[in-house]
Amino acid sequence: MKVVTQIQEYRKLRPAMAVPVGFVPTMGYLHQGHLELVRRARAENQTVVVSIFVNPTQFGPQEDLASYPRDPERDLALLEKEGADMVFMPSAEEMYPEGFDSWVEVGRATERLEGAYRTGHFRGVATVVAKLFNIVQPTRAYFGQKDAQQLVVIKKMVSDLNLDLEVVAVPTVRESDGLAMSSRNIYLDPNERQAALVLWQVLSLAQELWQEGERDAERLRQEMTLFIDAEPLARIDYVSVADSSTLEELSRIEGAALVSMAAWIGKTRLIDNVMLDTK
Ligand code: PAF
Repeated sequence: MKVVTQIQEYRKLRPAMAVPVGFVPTMGYLHQGHLELVRRARAENQTVVVSIFVNPTQFGPQEDLASYPRDPERDLALLEKEGADMVFMPSAEEMYPEGFDSWVEVGRATERLEGAYRTGHFRGVATVVAKLFNIVQPTRAYFGQKDAQQLVVIKKMVSDLNLDLEVVAVPTVRESDGLAMSSRNIYLDPNERQAALVLWQVLSLAQELWQEGERDAERLRQEMTLFIDAEPLARIDYVSVADSSTLEELSRIEGAALVSMAAWIGKTRLIDNVMLDTK
């Protein structure tokens, strides 16, 4: 496995890579969710490239950029074991040199949900992902369904800007008790870790109500809010039942719906979602 930190060095190596090239962009501190993306990429491509870059432009001024967990040595050992061929690990200066001033803005899909609470977040995500796509030149790129809005935004960017690659969505990997894997779970103390189960429990409740025939989206949002409010350590940012491609809030569920939420558990903000779909 080769580790590359310079864009120019990667560019020299890219023409000799066996295609298709599968790409997994990450911010490091890898967990089973990331490794599942790498396994999918490994199974479907000749070459697997993983990037590790904690992207400063997607963090707000009050967010956890400085304290975001990092462990590059462990990450590299895990990637080697999964059979990744190349790891692109640039510095912030390499990606955003002095004077950098061009941005990718995806429209309405970035305004709701996470975008409404994290101003500028998706501008940072879309910009860095577009840059990474241009550098890595992948045939396919793999993203977790856990960040459902990120997936919608990236698919929209790829389609609107005619980027020549396929975006592959990979199901969320969960701990045995249902908590979605996230690098931020490390911030939770034992009581908060227990309280964090409310996310999966309430999403399962929404899924059950829908399976029993409930199609009133507002009723689902209300039931979910009541359920989360009963957990003293949880504070809701949003509970959403939205169209799975436009992310517009629904009043009635007719097609595929994305049920998503963000909640604070103590000082940690967690997100999770489930898709309600008859297919
Ligand atoms: O999902 C992430 O880890 C990040 O948002 C990504 C896609 C690597 C861009 O920095």
